[in-house]
Amino acid sequence: MTQRQRSLKNPARTSGERYKILADSLMGNGGRSKNSLRSLRGLRLTANFSSSGQDGMKIRAAVNADRDAIWNIFHEVIAASETYPINPDISRNDALAYWFQSGAHAYVAEQHLRSGGKQERQIVGSYTVHPNQAGGGAHVANAAFIVAKGARGGGIGRGLGEHCLNEARRLGFQAMQFNFVISTNEAAVKLWQDLGMKIVGTLPGAFHHPAKGYVDVYVMYRSLLP
Ligand SMILES: CC(C)(COP(=O)(O)OP(=O)(O)OC[C@H]1O[C@@H](n2cnc3c(N)ncnc32)[C@H](O)[C@@H]1OP(=O)(O)O)[C@@H](O)C(=O)NCCC(=O)NCCS
Repeated sequence: MTQRQRSLKNPARTSGERYKILADSLMGNGGRSKNSLRSLRGLRLTANFSSSGQDGMKIRAAVNADRDAIWNIFHEVIAASETYPINPDISRNDALAYWFQSGAHAYVAEQHLRSGGKQERQIVGSYTVHPNQAGGGAHVANAAFIVAKGARGGGIGRGLGEHCLNEARRLGFQAMQFNFVISTNEAAVKLWQDLGMKIVGTLPGAFHHPAKGYVDVYVMYRSLLP
């Protein structure tokens, strides 16, 4: 079943209201080309939040002012040591150098909250997309995703994933490859499969999970060609 069919089959989530994702920055420059509009059509324009007072979630290109928020979420994810093969002691500088590495395009999911007539904005997730390899491997993209622990399960990861695939296609990448999806990361494995990523290889015991010991790791891949 395609994502579009899944969305139509489940037009509303049960645990909360539906909100529009104002994915206005597919271009990162405020542009609205035919391509970006075509990309938007492929995106499920909903996200789900369980608390009240939220106007919605917007995915936009990351700017320098987002670095603290990205670092805070990144640090929370990496400190858990369960989902990325990254030293939990990584410094802020090294983490941000990875997120904003050469050739990378980074985006944030910004949640809008209304409080006493005022609009508040909070960064709740981010992704970075970049060439998976150099030279002859540069036409395949790789991406990394983080959602703040308190914001998970509300559709933000799915929104970022869909946005990322559209964006990677717009940037000219021909395929997406995830090199290290830890098999115990059920949310990620299921979400990526929902988004058309296939497990193309299994690395036996390639990750040492803090609670589960040596667990398998998946290489996941999908074409982005029409
Ligand atoms: C993986 C991650 C990005 C997903 O973000 P999220 O905002 O929680 O995801 P969503 O709410 O959009 O859920 C997407 C799907 O994941 C699955 N999912 C979410 N939480 C789950 C859980 N606890 N167990 C199993 N599946 C789960 C559901 O199938 C859900 O699909 P649905 O829309 O049909 O309900 C987020 O959990 C995260 O940041 N984890 C830590 C970092 C990480 O693992 N990054 C990816 C590394 S490959």
